Amino acid sequence: MRSPVAPALLGLILGCIANAAILPAIPQAEFPACDDLETEQMANFAVDHINAKNNHGYKFALNRIEMVKVLPRRPFGKVAFIELDLLETECHVSNPLPAENCTIRPQTQHAVEGDCNVKLLIVDGGYKMLSSHCHSTPDSVEDIRNLCPDCPTLSRLDDPKLKEAADSGLAKFNAENVDGTHYQLLELSRGLSTHMPLGTHVEFAIAATNCSREQVQDPAEHCQVVTGEHARNGFCKSSVIQLPPVPVPDGAPKPPAEDVTVDCTLYDHQAGDSHFLEHYMHHLGKNIPSPGIGRRVLDLIHSHNDTHASHESHSAEVPAVAAAKPVVKRAVDLAVPVTGILPPVCPGRIRHFKI
Ligand SMILES: *[C@@H]1O[C@H](CO)[C@@H](O)[C@H](O)[C@H]1NC(C)=O
Ligand SMILES: *[C@@H]1O[C@H](CO)[C@@H](O)[C@H](O)[C@H]1NC(C)=O
Ligand SMILES: *[C@@H]1O[C@H](CO)[C@@H](O)[C@H](O)[C@H]1NC(C)=O
Repeated sequence: MRSPVAPALLGLILGCIANAAILPAIPQAEFPACDDLETEQMANFAVDHINAKNNHGYKFALNRIEMVKVLPRRPFGKVAFIELDLLETECHVSNPLPAENCTIRPQTQHAVEGDCNVKLLIVDGGYKMLSSHCHSTPDSVEDIRNLCPDCPTLSRLDDPKLKEAADSGLAKFNAENVDGTHYQLLELSRGLSTHMPLGTHVEFAIAATNCSREQVQDPAEHCQVVTGEHARNGFCKSSVIQLPPVPVPDGAPKPPAEDVTVDCTLYDHQAGDSHFLEHYMHHLGKNIPSPGIGRRVLDLIHSHNDTHASHESHSAEVPAVAAAKPVVKRAVDLAVPVTGILPPVCPGRIRHFKI
């Protein structure tokens, strides 16, 4: 006795298996070459975004694309995962010059590398940053010694000598600047010491206060950094060189023990590009540790906070990205052996130098 239900059930099961074999196309990971035009476009987009969001230290430039992987995203679009090597430029983040126009810091000045993991949404022919995580590290002292035994190496940013040198340089600039404005130190960005001659060389960011050179002498005056449309900020390089002691006749004035030089550039402020200053004002007095404490560089820390697509784990706007995560792993595991994709053409070329 055969039940009429059994063949029907069997048919259903077979149908399901057939469907399963045809229907759920496993999302395929694509591995474009790191030096593809489109990969480079995505990387440049990411670097612009990282520079625009970075509130400390220097702008970075693309040195090499290490890895790229593109996955389909539901319900539409694609997500690109990119690993980037960046190099520090000589432009401070508050410098209005685009990073492309900035000089890459040479190895002889103790170069700094930034490593970033970036996640981009590719949709409607455009890109949207989903997340970026960066970390920067100076070249090793050993590398610099090998390359150039006499080159100075970065001092720790909390070395009191750096702060003293910045204060001396700023005092000189405040005494001499033509507009008679009193400027305040905002950020000590980097510093190094030399032995021959014995000296300290610092780079730091400044902002104009609402006090003049004369007003600041009055202890009752409250001088504050000016923000908003009248904000003015700049960037300085200063060197303090210890002078060898010279014998002086009795009664003659003592010559200075050190020679202070300072060179500051004030930036023209167009409305809207003062995020660096606003950031500092926001942090001032709030006891937020500087990213330089205990380090020799201001870390290019992850600073991405786009309200439209912030941290994917709690973003309501792009839930598909988080939902696609388990699929991602399976796709990678399967796609490579099954479809025999060629080895990825990565990492890409080095644009400047390898550190
Ligand atoms: C940046 O460099 C480009 C190409 O060299 C040049 O056309 C442009 O004027 C420069 N921009 C600035 C602000 O210097
Ligand atoms: C600077 O701004 C502070 C706060 O608004 C104010 O108390 C102070 O009087 C101002 N100083 C000058 C010289 O305008
Ligand atoms: C990031 O964005 C959220 C929401 O817009 C905001 O509450 C938070 O203060 C921002 N964090 C920083 C560091 O700007």
